[in-house]
Amino acid sequence: MKELQLNNGVTIPAIGLGTFRAKDSEAYEAVKHALKVGYRHIDTAAIYQNEREVGQAIKDSQIPREEIFVTSKLWPTELGYLSAKKAFFKTLERLNLDYLDLYLIHWPGTYENNAEAYQAMEELYDEGYIRAIGVSNFSFHHLEHLFLTARIIPQVNQVETHLRLQNQKLQNFCMKHGIYLEAYAPLMSHFVHELLAEETLLEIAKKHGKTPGQIALKYLYERDIIVIPKSANPSRIEENLDLEGFTLDDDDDAVLAKLQRARKYFPDPDNFNF
Ligand SMILES: NC(=O)c1ccc[n+]([C@@H]2O[C@H](COP(=O)([O-])OP(=O)(O)OC[C@H]3O[C@@H](n4cnc5c(N)ncnc54)[C@H](OP(=O)(O)O)[C@@H]3O)[C@@H](O)[C@H]2O)c1
Repeated sequence: MKELQLNNGVTIPAIGLGTFRAKDSEAYEAVKHALKVGYRHIDTAAIYQNEREVGQAIKDSQIPREEIFVTSKLWPTELGYLSAKKAFFKTLERLNLDYLDLYLIHWPGTYENNAEAYQAMEELYDEGYIRAIGVSNFSFHHLEHLFLTARIIPQVNQVETHLRLQNQKLQNFCMKHGIYLEAYAPLMSHFVHELLAEETLLEIAKKHGKTPGQIALKYLYERDIIVIPKSANPSRIEENLDLEGFTLDDDDDAVLAKLQRARKYFPDPDNFNF
């Protein structure tokens, strides 16, 4: 599987398992199966309420800790210097880990709150508790303001990205600053069935002998966007990891680029109420 090198030299597997809406034993079984079949990157968050199960599955996998890339996220109610530190250590405790590979501000708050929480994360990074730090749901202006106070350029910006919301401009901006874009909801989340019924996607899938889901993920993967599809189904977990052994050609790329609609299914980072 492809690995990408973040701006601090840390490598991240370009495919990870998402765990949003996977609760209790479902999260445990999904992570355990994913690790068994070759995933080495797991994405969770405090708000998913599955950090304990994720951590237990990691432990039970018996795979050396340093071979697994683990991400979690700081919820907006904890966006402050002290609250961010407290929330981070609670996350670490629930995961039963000594360090995280990536810690993200989950959703932006005020510029001031973002800066305070980020400073706390920079200190945790300096102390070796986090190998890479970043943000999520940050638009251009959130990043530009963060740059005014940050000592460490974020390594990742995790944002909703899929064929209907391709985020080419945001990716260009992030790459210019050395920040990798990470696609959440790469299969359009609740709207996965709408995506997978898309006629052009079905045609390209048929041409390559792949599934429409694999084509949707491969399009992002080939653009060096990190993808974290969620599945709790063993065969779909395996399917989503199987993106090697075929290449999308220029015609495929042109057709897939045209599926862009600026269609957002998750809240607007400038206007949400949680
Ligand atoms: N930073 C943020 O604000 C944020 C927001 C949302 C999500 N995320 C992260 O990103 C991850 C992915 O996003 P997401 O979970 O919202 O959506 P997603 O990965 O785009 O889609 C998940 C949905 O697609 C189904 N699915 C997965 N693989 C499939 C396949 N090959 N064929 C058909 N259906 C398939 C899953 O059902 P089954 O489980 O039944 O397979 C589930 O219903 C999350 O799990 C989470 O870790 C982050």
